[in-house]
Amino acid sequence: MPPTRRIGLFTGGGDCPGLNAVIRAVTKNAILNHGLEVVGIEDGLLGLIENRCRPLSFNDVSGILQFGGTILGSSNKANPRRFPTARNPDGSLVFSDMTERCVEHARAHRIDAIVAIGGDGTMSACRALVERGLNFIGVPKSIDNDLFGTDLTFGFLTAVQIASDALDRVHTTASSHGRIMVVEVMGRNAGWISLYSGLAGGADVILIPEIPYDTTAIVRAIEQRAARGRKATIICIAEGAKPKGGLQAVGRIDPSSPDPVRLGGIGAMLAGELEDRTGQETRVTVLGHVQRGGTPTAADRVLATEFGFHAADLLASGARNRLIVRQDGRITDIDIADAADKQRLIPSDHSMLRAARAVGTCMGDEESLTE
Ligand code: F6P
Repeated sequence: MPPTRRIGLFTGGGDCPGLNAVIRAVTKNAILNHGLEVVGIEDGLLGLIENRCRPLSFNDVSGILQFGGTILGSSNKANPRRFPTARNPDGSLVFSDMTERCVEHARAHRIDAIVAIGGDGTMSACRALVERGLNFIGVPKSIDNDLFGTDLTFGFLTAVQIASDALDRVHTTASSHGRIMVVEVMGRNAGWISLYSGLAGGADVILIPEIPYDTTAIVRAIEQRAARGRKATIICIAEGAKPKGGLQAVGRIDPSSPDPVRLGGIGAMLAGELEDRTGQETRVTVLGHVQRGGTPTAADRVLATEFGFHAADLLASGARNRLIVRQDGRITDIDIADAADKQRLIPSDHSMLRAARAVGTCMGDEESLTE
């Protein structure tokens, strides 16, 4: 293999705070310490499909560390293997394989290797290109913190901070009115945001996709609180939570997306049920994309910088198809294929679940009840 001279870089999937910090760290390290040229690919894999790439200089990435979003743009709809290219007469989409086109565009820009900053969808989508000989170094991003192989993704801690700030605010208004307040946070199949922010924000009930909830157990927890003189109850629920024996609440379907289901509505569903069963006034707050926007926390900027610095170092060392990860507090790397099509869910024996139960938090199941 000839040495890497020119690298491509893109941000794929849903955006999250810290993307710019990674772009900056990869580019500065590549230019300053390894003499590499950097090409920014616009809007994730969409830019590779549509041949939209631009050179990135030291100055292009200066002064962006603290900004949310991504200077390169992102897309969570561009899977080269199944890309919508036309419509059938009935309005349904026609999908084509754009893998070859991506390879041609990478070669036309003389890109020797690509840094893919993305989550599980991006890592899975890159597989077809890896099989065609492109070299990828993945950097794990997601507010959901659900990427397999890493203990932490950047963006997650910022989302947790935003959600726990919101819970703090909801507490005061809930106790003024003696209400049940349901706060719906993001998290499709993994409930990390709900668990962390619920613990940090002192939620009385925390609901996660990994533990299907029993409404009767929640009603009993509310009654137990009332018996102790606590009239207000704060419930933090992941958008992907579901009732026992029931299904996740689907907000909308986006047929053009490789992962077409957009969740939403579980908070309102639960609130309606609780109001009916307890007779207590109940309100819902859906935090939504607020959790993905704005300034990254200092911890996320540091993590993003560490990930980006390691990605450029790895490329310069000639590594092929690796994913940068954090394991047991250390930054290291694993085979990128190991993270594809898998998710990191909360294990049932996780110490934070035990901590939550120990302080009297209801996790939506009978185990949580104290009497
Ligand atoms: O994967 C990150 C995430 O923010 C999920 O938590 C959420 O379900 C989804 O993306 C929302 O996607 P979109 O931005 O397409 O609405």
